[in-house]
Amino acid sequence: MFQPTAIASCDKQIFYTDLDKQLSGLLAGERDFVANAANLSSLIFLMLPDLNWAGFYLMRGNDLLLGPFQGKPACVRIPVHPQPRGVCGAAALQRTTQRVANVHDFPGHIACDSASNSEIVVPLIADSKVFGVLDIDSPRLDRFDADDQAGIEQLVRTFLNMTDQPAM
Ligand code: SME
Repeated sequence: MFQPTAIASCDKQIFYTDLDKQLSGLLAGERDFVANAANLSSLIFLMLPDLNWAGFYLMRGNDLLLGPFQGKPACVRIPVHPQPRGVCGAAALQRTTQRVANVHDFPGHIACDSASNSEIVVPLIADSKVFGVLDIDSPRLDRFDADDQAGIEQLVRTFLNMTDQPAM
């Protein structure tokens, strides 16, 4: 049984290095996308303080469709083409991480949970194509700084290296 270990460090770089090692242990021996995405959502939701949602959306045609997540039930479908919606749509279209200090200032933000105040969305890219996003929400304004972004992007790289792409 995998047992997440509390990380004592308040240094974010040390925190994310340790969490990345825990992720490698958690995913070892399994490459299925749904299983690994579900476990990464859970690990992030358990280990990062001040979150209200963490999970995946996956490209299906022109839209992002809800995937494995932790938190309250969420919006099912988010358009990307021809007109992107929300922070997730922007991350998928622009193929770059979106780090939003105050979601209420983000034009077109989709409020799935009224508790969300800040958000980070990392695109999942394989063969130069975006096939999904990892979306993390917080009730705290400006919850995610540059160290969080670097750490979460590293978690995504480890996840992608250890996981097969989902069946489309
Ligand atoms: N806030 C996101 C929608 C997804 S929920 O946060 C789970 C957005 O604006 O794209």
